[in-house]
Amino acid sequence: MTNVTFSGVTKRFGSVVALESLDLKIEAGEFVSLLGPSGSGKTTSLNLLAGLLPIDDGEIRIGEKVVNDLPPDKRDIAMVFQNYALYPHMTVFENIAFPLRARQRRTAEDEIVRRVDRVAGAMGIGDLLARYPKELSGGQQQRVALGRAMVRDPKVFLLDEPLSNLDARLRIRMRHDIKALHQSIKSTIVYVTHDQAEAMSMSSRIAVFNKGRLQQYGTPRQIYAEPVNQFVANFVGERETTFIDGRFVERGGMPTFEAGATAIPIAGARERFPAAMGRPVRLGVRAESVRLAQGSGALSATVTLSELSGPDQILYVRTADGTELCCRTDPATVVRPGETVPIEFVAGLLHAFDPATGDTLAKHS
Ligand SMILES: Nc1ncnc2c1ncn2[C@@H]1O[C@H](COP(=O)(O)OP(=O)(O)OP(=O)(O)O)[C@@H](O)[C@H]1O
Ligand SMILES: [Mg+2]
Repeated sequence: MTNVTFSGVTKRFGSVVALESLDLKIEAGEFVSLLGPSGSGKTTSLNLLAGLLPIDDGEIRIGEKVVNDLPPDKRDIAMVFQNYALYPHMTVFENIAFPLRARQRRTAEDEIVRRVDRVAGAMGIGDLLARYPKELSGGQQQRVALGRAMVRDPKVFLLDEPLSNLDARLRIRMRHDIKALHQSIKSTIVYVTHDQAEAMSMSSRIAVFNKGRLQQYGTPRQIYAEPVNQFVANFVGERETTFIDGRFVERGGMPTFEAGATAIPIAGARERFPAAMGRPVRLGVRAESVRLAQGSGALSATVTLSELSGPDQILYVRTADGTELCCRTDPATVVRPGETVPIEFVAGLLHAFDPATGDTLAKHS
């Protein structure tokens, strides 16, 4: 268990800047996810940390040691790739034991058995040790690959989209298993994913990337509730965020968001967005920022579709000026498409950005 520090780390491929001046500090024992869309620099960051690619600029430290010029096998890290490969001619036991046998200082046989049993138990594959990879499902193979990485005691684990080949249910189960495993072994884990729900559910902190640049680094709660810019607000969350351009004004003592002909009174907006009053604002609205209103002062909207999503019902609604929004409601509320409903915005769950820069206008703790 050790900390990892990126300081001003840059990587170019010809004219493409894959990673631009990354500063990131991962504390010992943390589970940090690198989250971002395709091509944002996640795998590049991991490869630089693993020593599989040379750095153009900056410094990477593992613990106190600068590792820029250290070959991969001297960095004491274990990596599971997106396209992991098991050794087909070896049993599950031998696959997991492989890193222990491959070391110069060989591990005693009873110690190997002990360690393989422990990891296999934690990964739920204890009864598959005598099988060969071709006799396993995709999810079981993935568990073996993870087990093989975890059988040693490296300083840092690097996992690059290890669940990408699994079906939805199994991914959720594996999230839980990986997190439980992390809690029991307490090692430092750097986990690459483009799946925001995966990052949210497992990480102590999330680093959000876009186009080779770190956008925000914070706890899942911060990333979700206090996105620093429009990109993060839109990338994180189950559904896309709706953005509406307008401005906050006072109307009859009530802060009101004006967008074209539409005026939406929003109680509490002044406290949440003190810097946003009287200037152009891009409002970020999520399904949970909109609810069905009781009484007056609300906006009306027409329901176009309702969708049951587990314990929630999501209403797709359209306002008079054609703005499409999602509204989270209780599934017990029966609303039919075509019906007109009063809606209101919840100030604490809204986000406001500078339309010119996309940066937040909210006052964050
Ligand atoms: N070996 C390479 N040669 C040239 N360009 C590369 C190379 N590896 C990566 N790139 C480019 O660097 C950028 C970052 O790539 P990277 O693989 O880090 O993205 P990623 O965030 O891991 O994406 P994905 O989610 O698709 O795996 C991309 O524009 C990619 O095309
Ligand atoms: Mg990648």
